[in-house]
Amino acid sequence: MSRSVLVVGGAGYIGSHMVLALDEAGFDVTTFDNLSTGHRDAVLAGDFVHGDLADRDALGRLFARRRFDLVMHFAACAYVRESMEDPRKYYRNNVVGCLNLLDAMLDAGVRRLVFSSSCATYGVAREVPITEEHPQAPVNPYGFTKLAIERALSDYATAYEFHAVALRYFNAAGADARGRLSERHEPETHLIPLVLREAARVRDGGAPLDTRLEVFGTTLATPDGSCVRDFVHVEDICAAHLAALERLLTKPQGFEAYNVGTANPASVLDVIAAARRVTGEDVRYRAAPAKAGDPPSLVATSTRARETLGWAPRHESLDGIVASAWNAAPFRARHASDA
Ligand SMILES: NC(=O)c1ccc[n+]([C@@H]2O[C@H](COP(=O)([O-])OP(=O)(O)OC[C@H]3O[C@@H](n4cnc5c(N)ncnc54)[C@H](O)[C@@H]3O)[C@@H](O)[C@H]2O)c1
Repeated sequence: MSRSVLVVGGAGYIGSHMVLALDEAGFDVTTFDNLSTGHRDAVLAGDFVHGDLADRDALGRLFARRRFDLVMHFAACAYVRESMEDPRKYYRNNVVGCLNLLDAMLDAGVRRLVFSSSCATYGVAREVPITEEHPQAPVNPYGFTKLAIERALSDYATAYEFHAVALRYFNAAGADARGRLSERHEPETHLIPLVLREAARVRDGGAPLDTRLEVFGTTLATPDGSCVRDFVHVEDICAAHLAALERLLTKPQGFEAYNVGTANPASVLDVIAAARRVTGEDVRYRAAPAKAGDPPSLVATSTRARETLGWAPRHESLDGIVASAWNAAPFRARHASDA
């Protein structure tokens, strides 16, 4: 009988790729999602249950109806800047919502979880690349909510024979190689889709100098003055989840945390240059002040995941990652008249 996995937040960007990856790996998949930022048409496999983590009764009914071997928890509010303007939304959804999920799991005797954590738990990097031992000192409420849940998972592991893997992703990017899924956030705040939207605007006749693309921070203490990030392909994130699942089902260890990144630093200006090469469009930008709560440099070392989970990223070229996002982007298609 195939193993059954509940994907909470499976209608979102990363979760929807995970649902497909689990289905293709032979798992029985159920998505639970309130569609606050996700899309029903992005859930391309398994069952879909429309529900909210705030609704404890709905969670109780879900776990009473089905037996899950493991839960993957992607559902969260995930905009750093919004978390600074409206922190209670973040503490309520990311912390209280997740604690509701953990209660439902414990009540149903389901004790294995893969949690979407974030490099935002590290705050401003003291050393780059960042290892899992780096102090966790978030600089925004979003990062604090992720850290709070990591702490809860560690305590639950000790007290309740609970087993959890927190995957601290760096910057998720790219899309399904077959173009079935893409990143569709509204509003979009992630760099690669924003740069590609600008490329599509220029392609459709917009003047390059009228650019809508803002680069926040151009005089930072980084090699080219713009923020440096570690872009990890969404399919590699899914592969890390499958490796974590395997460990939780075969060698559960209580609470463990792993970085999921490539160790390849890429600046915002590198991404813009990659987008120019991939799309052939004259993508320009406007310099804007650095954003509060936005660390200048976040690059991972994922040695622990490589050594313990046997995971390694397959997509290491920035151009390749940007190309996969471009190929799958909803605005990729030209107008029918100029196809
Ligand atoms: N995208 C990144 O670069 C990145 C980096 C690090 C960590 N993460 C984490 O990965 C996870 C997925 O990120 P994403 O970019 O796919 O986000 P997303 O917004 O695309 O997906 C989140 C999904 O969760 C659902 N959801 C939110 N609150 C819910 C609730 N209360 N009940 C039920 N469903 C709910 C949304 O409708 C959406 O489908 C998040 O936890 C995020 O914090 C993302």
